[in-house]
Amino acid sequence: MADEVIAVSSDWAKRAYVDDAKYKAMYEASTTDPAKFWEEHGKRIDWIKPYSPSAVRDVDYNGDVRIRWFHDGVLNVSANCIDRHLSHRGDQTAIIWEGDDPSKSKKISYRELHGEVCRMANALKELGVRKGDRVTIYLPMIPEAAYAMLACTRIGAIHSVVFGGFSPDSLANRLVDCDSNVVITADEGLRAGKHVPLKANCDEALKKAPGVKKVLVVKHTGGKVGWEAGRDVWWHEIAAKVPADCAPEPMGAEDPLFILYTSGSTGKPKGVLHTTGGYIVFASMTHQYVFDYHDGDVYWCTADVGWVTGHSYILYGPLANGATTLMFEGVPNYPDSSRFWQVIDKHQVNIFYTAPTAIRALMREGEAPVKKASRASLRLLGSVGEPINPEAWLWYHRVVGDSRCPIVDTWWQTETGGILITPLPGATALKPGSATRPFFGVQPVMVDAEGNELQGACTGNLCLVNSWPGQMRTVYGDHQRFIDTYFRTYPGKYFTGDGARRDEDGYYWITGRVDDVINVSGHRIGTAEVESALVANTKVAEAAVVGFPHDIKGQGIYAYVTLKAGEHSSEELRKELVAWVRKEIGPIATPDVIQWAPGLPKTRSGKIMRRILRKIAENDFSNLGDTSTLADPTVVDDLVKHRGK
Ligand code: WT7
Repeated sequence: MADEVIAVSSDWAKRAYVDDAKYKAMYEASTTDPAKFWEEHGKRIDWIKPYSPSAVRDVDYNGDVRIRWFHDGVLNVSANCIDRHLSHRGDQTAIIWEGDDPSKSKKISYRELHGEVCRMANALKELGVRKGDRVTIYLPMIPEAAYAMLACTRIGAIHSVVFGGFSPDSLANRLVDCDSNVVITADEGLRAGKHVPLKANCDEALKKAPGVKKVLVVKHTGGKVGWEAGRDVWWHEIAAKVPADCAPEPMGAEDPLFILYTSGSTGKPKGVLHTTGGYIVFASMTHQYVFDYHDGDVYWCTADVGWVTGHSYILYGPLANGATTLMFEGVPNYPDSSRFWQVIDKHQVNIFYTAPTAIRALMREGEAPVKKASRASLRLLGSVGEPINPEAWLWYHRVVGDSRCPIVDTWWQTETGGILITPLPGATALKPGSATRPFFGVQPVMVDAEGNELQGACTGNLCLVNSWPGQMRTVYGDHQRFIDTYFRTYPGKYFTGDGARRDEDGYYWITGRVDDVINVSGHRIGTAEVESALVANTKVAEAAVVGFPHDIKGQGIYAYVTLKAGEHSSEELRKELVAWVRKEIGPIATPDVIQWAPGLPKTRSGKIMRRILRKIAENDFSNLGDTSTLADPTVVDDLVKHRGK
């Protein structure tokens, strides 16, 4: 069956920064002489001290793995996101904030942003934060989250944003791992009218993270909070005392900018470290070209700043480009499932970037909630976080975009810092479900399980050769883990962990993770993390967790649980374990199915055969493979017989 192809309209080819011919020329230039290409494009950023041509690119994927970009340049990210716009767009709106409550919104100009960020930077200095210190940010989607991140970059502190949906334990682990002394949080968050006790979670976490000396608290809902004098400081109180000006700290291009924890196939989440110069060049360049951002456009990315999408495409990319970026505190179905489209009309949004899981959930509600809003301002749609199935793509295109807005399906990862495989709206003919072609400077290669490079149309594992400036530099505090995770599977290549198909036109179709990572509603969860949360419960002897296809979430979490002798399975215990995992990790890790497993399929050496467990979870019993080598083949029959709903 031939894939449906949606050609670039002539309007788009004309208005966009790049058409197909220009894409091909720029791509060619970016891969034949990357140093020359990035030497030119690095200039889009203001440098306090420019990089020398010989320092543009210094990369080795072998041995200890070294990745440096623009390494003798000096710059400041907050100055690039704020100060450099003040002379000509000081009064332009930088951030439109739309509250969870539809009656609450506000606009923050670049000049106001400058004042708030400087004040927060001075507040952090008062609290003892110095260049290189780690500051953990545990905030809801309020403007102060942007101020906090930018304030860190202003003084050279390294931020670690922890998603507000994570539990006290998850927060504590992240605080300890990067040795943070200061946390910025709020009294409470709001989600669909419900209060999220952030300060209380933080207090709980701090019992396990004694290194934290100061907590800066934003008053958001006015809800009651516990208070530890000497440690806890109200943001509005300190803000009233500190000056509204703070000189940006000159930073080396390879100085750390932020840490963001993400799940892998083994062990605890790892602290992905991004540095200053390459990251901001890449975030701003991809934001401009992928979304074809022009002055005056209103741009909305619905992610949370707790994820990399929020870092690169709510904050850093857009603000470096002098954009107007919308920050949304709420959820797609509150007060009702027309909310996204109402917000688009209210703020005249031109570019809208969301996740397939949201589209699938809204698609279920039918067309009426969409049609209630005009959406006439929309020009471009985007998708990120997981593969988008063609049905959802086509609905997004036809119903939301009235068949007139191209969709950019952007593939990337926390590790990549910015978008790597994506259509460019004026250049790329679209195929529903395909992330299409590589961005400038990005060289995907497909390999088989043995690491042989595949040519032409093929299916295999997706690797990248040749670095790009936004690439992560290390795992914070564990460079060996960085090398082992990404560069050892296929020596000399960065392995993404994703499987993909490349078609006859060279288009990439990402099929999903090939490692033990599951993607639930676009959020990455390591099966190992859920397993260790389960076995931390005293009633559980053993647990094995796999992903399975889920209509709305993309993948759901399927847990096989073996109870300790003397414990009995019951609906009550099932609920208890579900609640336990939510408490240990956070609601995003809620198991969808728990199946009681008297035994797990293991090899004679004791290794759990996840492939078999995946098949059972997928309801596919036809192809369980050879089970005769298992230590106890009968456990498989039992699991098949009692497969969960
Ligand atoms: C994993 C990375 C990058 C921002 C959000 C997720 C999957 C991401 C797509 C896409 C198919 C996608 C991959 C990737 N993924 N975007 N457009 N099509 N799959 O960041 O949490 O680091 O997860 O998300 O499996 O490896 P992340």
